[in-house]
Amino acid sequence: MKNTAELRELFLNYLAQNSFDDEPQGLYAPVNYILDIGGKRMRPVMLLMACQLFDENVEKALPAALAVEIFHNFTLLHDDIMDDAPLRRGKTTVHEKYDTNTAILSGDVMMIHAYQYLAKASPQLLPDLLRIMNQLAIGVCEGQQYDMDFETVETVSIPEYLKMIELKTSVLLAGSMQMGALIGGASAKDAEQVYEFGRNVGIAFQLQDDILDTFGDPEKFGKRVGGDIVQNKKTFLVLKTLELATAEDRQNLHQLLQTAPADEAAKIEQVRTLFKKYKIRQQAGKKMNAYLDTAFHHLDLLEIPEARKVELRNLAHYLINREV
Ligand code: IPE
Ligand code: IPE
Ligand code: MG
Ligand code: MG
Ligand code: MG
Repeated sequence: MKNTAELRELFLNYLAQNSFDDEPQGLYAPVNYILDIGGKRMRPVMLLMACQLFDENVEKALPAALAVEIFHNFTLLHDDIMDDAPLRRGKTTVHEKYDTNTAILSGDVMMIHAYQYLAKASPQLLPDLLRIMNQLAIGVCEGQQYDMDFETVETVSIPEYLKMIELKTSVLLAGSMQMGALIGGASAKDAEQVYEFGRNVGIAFQLQDDILDTFGDPEKFGKRVGGDIVQNKKTFLVLKTLELATAEDRQNLHQLLQTAPADEAAKIEQVRTLFKKYKIRQQAGKKMNAYLDTAFHHLDLLEIPEARKVELRNLAHYLINREV
């Protein structure tokens, strides 16, 4: 059995062998740029791990692993346009380094290439993999639209927020893992448990992303800290504060999140102070742990040796405690 570091290494080698040296450069240079500047590679690694739960021969899952990583990076190019983000993985975002049209088109071509890698699967598996991939891809678009819609409304309910992050973030992780399990020969029922594991970990993962966006160390996080506040995103941090705050603080937060002041740093600091006052990080921590427990419950239901599950458990713990 391979551990997380070994699976990551295996994936990175495969990625390096499959760089895009096609023409025109104007289209493909940004693709290689985004794929080469790093990233945790958690989706491909977890797809390989899901395969490995059922079959140690994980090499056959590499094309699908690359498919989900390319797809993820495509969503980042477009997400960074939508979120007006200057930094990604500590580097200039594609639409800022090149331009917006380039980020749109390079993203588009990445999505098609992702499907081409997925299509390398065996003919027996392909219909199922395509169904899963199509479903998650539609989900990501729906989630991204909710995320943007929520920027301009005063508040949304926490269940609405959770649905939004499930769509924009967690269905990709869940579907990746479900595909990995099927490639490893899992039954449809076991692959569903793996999906549920990924879905719950994915929600916890996005909660941690929201925390890092406000409280992360700019040196480590690699994205602009405070970006969600500037964009008036309705994150868990905002919604839980609105729920717990006094009428006066609630009014202040509403006010702050309707403005686009020249002094963005001051706005970030004021909102952050409100989050701290209501110990929102602890609240989010509780929520993440609840999702992790549910995820582990689904892992428990798989009738495979416990030793095979250890790496996944450790990775899930890392993801909700990470700083990157
Ligand atoms: C960023 O995903 C987008 C979210 C869903 C929060 P990651 O945090 O996995 O980004 P990389 O690939 O490691 O840079
Ligand atoms: C990411 O949400 C969702 C997708 C990229 C589809 P965020 O907007 O929070 O991701 P980051 O923080 O920019 O990575
Ligand atoms: Mg973003
Ligand atoms: Mg976004
Ligand atoms: Mg984010």
